[in-house]
Amino acid sequence: MYGGKSYILKGSVSLSLIILILLVTTLLVSAKNQPRISLVEVKTCNLAKGEWVEDKKRPLYSGFECKQWLSNIFSCRVMGRPDFSFEGYRWQPEGCNIPEFNRVNFLRRMQNKTIAFIGDSLGREQFQSLMCMATGGKESPEVQNVGSEYGLVIPKGAPRPGGWAYRFPTTNTTVLSYWSASLTDLVPMNNTDPPHLIAMHLDRPPAFIRNYLHRFHVLVLNTGHHWSRDKIEKNHWVMHVNGTRVEGGYFKNVENAKKFTIHSLVKWLDAQLPLHPRLKAFFTTISPRHEKCNNTIPLSRGSKITGEGGSLDTIVESAVNGTRVKILDITALSKLRDEAHIAGCKLKPKKASNVTSAPTFNDCLHWCLPGIPDTWNELLIAQL
Ligand SMILES: *[C@@H]1O[C@H](CO)[C@@H](O)[C@H](O)[C@H]1NC(C)=O
Ligand SMILES: *[C@@H]1O[C@H](CO)[C@@H](O)[C@H](O)[C@H]1NC(C)=O
Ligand SMILES: *[C@@H]1O[C@H](CO)[C@@H](O)[C@H](O)[C@H]1NC(C)=O
Ligand SMILES: *[C@@H]1O[C@H](CO)[C@@H](O)[C@H](O)[C@H]1NC(C)=O
Ligand SMILES: *[C@@H]1O[C@H](CO)[C@@H](O)[C@H](O)[C@H]1NC(C)=O
Ligand SMILES: *[C@@H]1O[C@H](CO)[C@@H](O)[C@H](O)[C@H]1NC(C)=O
Ligand SMILES: *[C@@H]1O[C@H](CO)[C@@H](O)[C@H](O)[C@H]1NC(C)=O
Repeated sequence: MYGGKSYILKGSVSLSLIILILLVTTLLVSAKNQPRISLVEVKTCNLAKGEWVEDKKRPLYSGFECKQWLSNIFSCRVMGRPDFSFEGYRWQPEGCNIPEFNRVNFLRRMQNKTIAFIGDSLGREQFQSLMCMATGGKESPEVQNVGSEYGLVIPKGAPRPGGWAYRFPTTNTTVLSYWSASLTDLVPMNNTDPPHLIAMHLDRPPAFIRNYLHRFHVLVLNTGHHWSRDKIEKNHWVMHVNGTRVEGGYFKNVENAKKFTIHSLVKWLDAQLPLHPRLKAFFTTISPRHEKCNNTIPLSRGSKITGEGGSLDTIVESAVNGTRVKILDITALSKLRDEAHIAGCKLKPKKASNVTSAPTFNDCLHWCLPGIPDTWNELLIAQL
């Protein structure tokens, strides 16, 4: 009898112990999966250092279903890429956790706010990624096109507007994208030979930024890949500083011109920020182009970025140093992901899809979506 009783007693003690162990384990596991994060932690932690880790909950949305926001060429599922293992990773910063993305919380936090992506096609990819993240990649008829509020209408004879702006009516959150590949002010020149030359004012922010800065709460800038002699000539851009044409000398080197522009813009923005206390400004570092990207095995180049070093993009890093403009340092972590570009030998359009032009180009610059730009957005959101 006693034996039996003590057995029961022991039994319940061990049962409570087991329950306790289970409880602690569950707490630990859930703490690991759903990190509680303090903003202080993120602010003191270098988000650019860390590791790509497998995550069964990835991708954050379906590339098939997010057609409303994704350009076909960025949607590798629409384009018929056969391998998708690259979609199953998230970035784990070293020494801190970023909160798991939750679109309802995100939109609530962004109530009455406008998020603007201004830059080149990589910035546009980040914009499309955020639209998919914020809608869960689902058809969203309630989202309003408010482009006209920002003058984003298709100019006469142009194939597309200079950008797009969409509003989530439940939270009054606006997300917009504006095309400014060089982040300079571009003004058509008069009476020039050849005609159609465009003055590219390296020391003047694009008019769009000057006009609408007061309406932005989050501004994300990027540039880089249009700074080549070839592209500048094809665009008929003529560099100007102080309102006059500059040729030769320091500006003959396009890399110098880019550096001068980024530094001028950041300096101007830094002076504007105290006048716009609600605005947070970020400069995204350059998105890496790979020489070759036919690899399909994730993390073949390694999974970690460690060490004391700074950004691989020393131009943006030094421009924002000591200013109120924040760096969104995505270069090194993206460089590990050569398998996640839109090009590759396997990329062929599906017969059934409505894709008219096959990506016969070898594009080792742009990224599949869902994909790497989703991570850029997670790092951005962690800092808002
Ligand atoms: C939406 O947000 C803007 C600020 O971004 C504010 O000026 C406007 O009044 C808001 N509209 C509504 C309907 O809440
Ligand atoms: C959003 O704007 C509306 C209208 O101006 C206001 O009533 C509401 O309190 C604002 N919400 C937040 C979170 O700022
Ligand atoms: C041409 O010059 C005039 C006078 O300086 C100016 O008003 C105009 O905006 C310029 N640009 C074009 C494209 O005509
Ligand atoms: C532009 O003007 C500033 C101030 O007058 C001067 O310091 C600078 O050298 C000028 N830059 C060029 C490229 O003309
Ligand atoms: C990638 O292309 C190179 C030739 O450019 C070839 O040797 C290599 O086998 C290809 N790799 C894959 C994974 O297809
Ligand atoms: C940032 O500026 C400080 C002070 O001017 C300088 O010591 C430091 O080396 C700079 N860091 C970078 C990454 O440029
Ligand atoms: C392709 O596009 C045409 C015209 O936009 C449309 O009528 C057709 O249904 C589309 N086909 C598919 C398979 O989506």
